Amino acid sequence: MKGAPRTSAWAAGIAVLGAASAAGAAGYVGSQKCKACHIQQHKSWDATHMAKAFDLLKPGERADAKKKAKLDPAADYTKDAKCLACHTTGYGKGGFKSVEETPTLAGVGCEACHGPGGGYLGDDKMSLKNKEYKRPALLAAGLVSPPTAETCAACHNDKSPFVGPGYKFDFKERKDKGTHEHAKLKYSHD
Ligand code: HEC
Ligand code: HEC
Ligand code: HEC
Ligand code: HEC
Repeated sequence: MKGAPRTSAWAAGIAVLGAASAAGAAGYVGSQKCKACHIQQHKSWDATHMAKAFDLLKPGERADAKKKAKLDPAADYTKDAKCLACHTTGYGKGGFKSVEETPTLAGVGCEACHGPGGGYLGDDKMSLKNKEYKRPALLAAGLVSPPTAETCAACHNDKSPFVGPGYKFDFKERKDKGTHEHAKLKYSHD
């Protein structure tokens, strides 16, 4: 009698885990999908360090910086859960899993700042058929626009091994320097 409730709670836990990972998987589409309609942003983003942030986890990359931060420069951190949340797109949220399974989600992609595209892309949402979409509907579907200091703080915070306590992130300066080229939107979305 004593063991019964424990067993069923355990079984329920497994069922919940399974459901969560299946639902999350549809969310992230990868930056390549955004390129078709946002060539300028894609091209300039592709040239940033953030686009290539996954490579920093490979052995030998930025060896001096790793030594200073007391990390092993020869180690492979590309499968290390402690690093992936900030060097990939959507890790732990149904996005990046591994470079083999989800290669288009390695690095800080569009959706790391703008939210998972699966929610807001589609004929009746953000599309060429609906260029004058209403922004509130897309925001409700998970679009992040414009990203704010808080968006960046998900990664740019003192949990990074390379910055000490008291780290300050200058949002305005970094935004101008480090995201992508910006173009004025052509259509009204109010
Ligand atoms: C099929 C075309 C299409 C695709 C694919 C697409 N977009 Fe868009 N997007 C648009 C159009 C059209 C607009 C409105 C452009 C305008 O007003 O000039 C827009 C606007 C935006 C905006 C501005 C939002 C605002 O504040 O109104 C952001 C941010 C954005 N897209 C990000 C993305 C991201 C990230 C992806 C990939 C996950 C993506 N888009 C994929 C067509 C697309
Ligand atoms: C909380 C988010 C976060 C975590 C966790 C994190 N990083 Fe980073 N990492 C960043 C950010 C943000 C930067 C860029 C810092 C900047 O430019 O201010 C960075 C920069 C780096 C750099 C470049 C450092 C330099 O000075 O050139 C390397 C290498 C790196 N990270 C590796 C790792 C490894 C390996 C791990 C896991 C042990 C890890 N990171 C965990 C957010 C994180
Ligand atoms: C998913 C995690 C993540 C998010 C979200 C994020 N960053 Fe970063 N950012 C990084 C990492 C990791 C690096 C380190 C790249 C390197 O050193 O090569 C970085 C580097 C940068 C750089 C240096 C880029 C370069 O080419 O030298 C700037 C500037 C920057 N981030 C600005 C921002 C701004 C502004 C935001 C928010 C609008 C933001 N970041 C959001 C992880 C993130
Ligand atoms: C590091 C964070 C970050 C990443 C990664 C990022 N963006 Fe943005 N994006 C921003 C910020 C911040 C703004 C708003 C700028 C402002 O407030 O003027 C923006 C604005 C936009 C806009 C509105 C029009 C414009 O040009 O400002 C579009 C469209 C857009 N991004 C598309 C993309 C696409 C497509 C990608 C990937 C190829 C991408 N973004 C990657 C931070 C990011």
